[in-house]
Amino acid sequence: MSNFEFSFQNDHTYKHNTRQEMNIRAILPDIFYVGVNDREKHRFESLWPLPHGVSYNSYIVRSHKTALIDSVEVRESLTLFSHLDEVLGGTEIDYLVVNHMEPDHSGSIPLLAAKYPEMKIVGNKQTVAMIGGFYGITDQERFVTVCDGDKLDLGEITLRFLMTPMVHWPETMMTFAEERRILFTGDAFGTFGALNGGIIDFETDTALYLEEAYRYYSNIVGKYGKFVQRTIEKTAPLAPEFICPTHGPIWHESIAEISAIYDRLSRYHSEPGTTIVYGSMYGNTEAMAEAIAMALAARGEKRIRIHNAGKDSLSHIISDAFRYDGLIVGAPTYSMTLFPPVDTFMKAMQTRETQNKVLGLFSSFTWASAAGKALEGYAEAMGLQVAAKTEMKQGINNEIRADIEKFADSFMSELHKSRYARLR
Ligand SMILES: Cc1cc2nc3c(=O)[nH]c(=O)nc-3n(C[C@H](O)[C@H](O)[C@H](O)COP(=O)(O)O)c2cc1C
Ligand SMILES: [Fe+2]
Ligand SMILES: [Fe+2]
Repeated sequence: MSNFEFSFQNDHTYKHNTRQEMNIRAILPDIFYVGVNDREKHRFESLWPLPHGVSYNSYIVRSHKTALIDSVEVRESLTLFSHLDEVLGGTEIDYLVVNHMEPDHSGSIPLLAAKYPEMKIVGNKQTVAMIGGFYGITDQERFVTVCDGDKLDLGEITLRFLMTPMVHWPETMMTFAEERRILFTGDAFGTFGALNGGIIDFETDTALYLEEAYRYYSNIVGKYGKFVQRTIEKTAPLAPEFICPTHGPIWHESIAEISAIYDRLSRYHSEPGTTIVYGSMYGNTEAMAEAIAMALAARGEKRIRIHNAGKDSLSHIISDAFRYDGLIVGAPTYSMTLFPPVDTFMKAMQTRETQNKVLGLFSSFTWASAAGKALEGYAEAMGLQVAAKTEMKQGINNEIRADIEKFADSFMSELHKSRYARLR
């Protein structure tokens, strides 16, 4: 066994002799967290801001044979290696299980393959092809190729592989440590936020991670709702005691909460609230957004989130737009089309196959209108009904304000209808 002194106490605290700066935890006496925190990267996938950092989670399952489940982003490889040396004390890794090939988890594969020349790489047919393509490892002797339901015997622990395509790439799979009831889920049930000391949910304040789960889901996994649903159907009967994703804390006490967020969002079910997204160069369209927000508030809508698409991060805007059932989008006409940041937002919502929104649209122009039509084009392409729309020429006046009152009536009436329908 390892050089860990381990005890699982009633008050859920651990005692072990791990060096404090190392992110190692024994989840069970033979299963270890050896992941790393990234507090340097500004944007995940070069797109999504990381105000609280991100973790790349990696796990060791140690029985007669030793398996490493997933690796980390290449720049963090040395930290992973120091964790491996600490837990394994220089002994071999027999298997590297590759649940997902996105480079945030596969980046250290070539370095690991060199460090552990006897180690077999476990993946499905698509994984093996991608490892060849990304990292030039093509020697078939190095691979153990698995299919759905296949098992790998480590001695006292059996790993079972479940194919979960498109959560979040086509090769994605999950690994279940049967005798320990631990499910290694890859990106599914993951969230942004580096781990702040605590690794398992009961060791940490989960509020931050559960909040970031909306942003992680909508930004990263959002397009693949039906695949997430299939995965939930497939994994729920396993009733895992621990869910070990590749980002964020390990779920144990809060399995129900994180599963509910993934379940709800992947069904495109939203919470009551309205997101208003607008673009504006000189404040005219913005004045419409403010007037609309006040008109909604006057009609009892309390949870209103307003985003200036030219300034706020697309990531946070998508997250709110995904989360709440009301969505109102506005933009000025710009060179005979939609003001670009709003166009980018609408394209992102279309890519994510957005459904079940009560939608309102507002637009402005000075000499020849185009933004309104462009917004309606998106609504049509997404199959969303427009509950209310209004357009303004140049600046706001009493006529426009009166129009906005009517807009708010129609929008709130549709929103209430859809909320009552969901209650039934
Ligand atoms: C670069 C640029 C291109 C524009 N293109 C159009 C256009 O094609 N048609 C139009 O009616 N107005 C056009 N406008 C005028 C804007 O619609 C007008 O400035 C409007 O008031 C902007 O709303 P805002 O104050 O919310 O930024 C353009 C303005 C700019 C700065
Ligand atoms: Fe991924
Ligand atoms: Fe990932």
